[in-house]
Amino acid sequence: MTATREQDVVELLVDQHNRIRQMFGEMEKAQGDRKRELFEDLVRLLAVHETAEEEVVHPVARRKIEAGEQVVDARLHEEDQAKHMLAELYDLGPDKPEFDIRFRAAKEAILQHAEREERDEFSSLREKVDANQLKRMADAVRAAERTAPTRPHPRTPESAAGNLVAGPPLAVFDRVRDAMREMVKKGKD
Ligand SMILES: [Fe+2]
Ligand SMILES: [Fe+2]
Repeated sequence: MTATREQDVVELLVDQHNRIRQMFGEMEKAQGDRKRELFEDLVRLLAVHETAEEEVVHPVARRKIEAGEQVVDARLHEEDQAKHMLAELYDLGPDKPEFDIRFRAAKEAILQHAEREERDEFSSLREKVDANQLKRMADAVRAAERTAPTRPHPRTPESAAGNLVAGPPLAVFDRVRDAMREMVKKGKD
């Protein structure tokens, strides 16, 4: 990822999509413990990325872009489906024979979702939202993402931050959302 202060929110999110694409590729080649570890990393990265979109980006797109309501509702529906696909994969476990087939289906769905965002949502955001606001939105996404580290801290496994991003995907997504909302609320107080 090449996050810099000057990046706008579209560049930041497209970079994250590329990182997600790369991790899906790495996962397909991995075996054993490495596969389990990569799957957990992918769940954390997706929880943080999708939740930041839901809290910071989709609300602006809903108001500003053409057919914003329909575009954003479709993206939210896909994000919800992705969460549930990840939850089923987690319950199944990466060693089961069906895991790889279902993982490929989740990969297709999640990468298509990212492409639809880039094509139908982000490109319109660039047209409808001024450059300064797009940069402020990038700051807000980065601030939201800092509340939820993409890795548990190795030395403090029992810390709140460590627990935030560990465990079953639905719980990880919920905790990341709560942490981001808390951060946004504090920012407004
Ligand atoms: Fe998304
Ligand atoms: Fe995305």
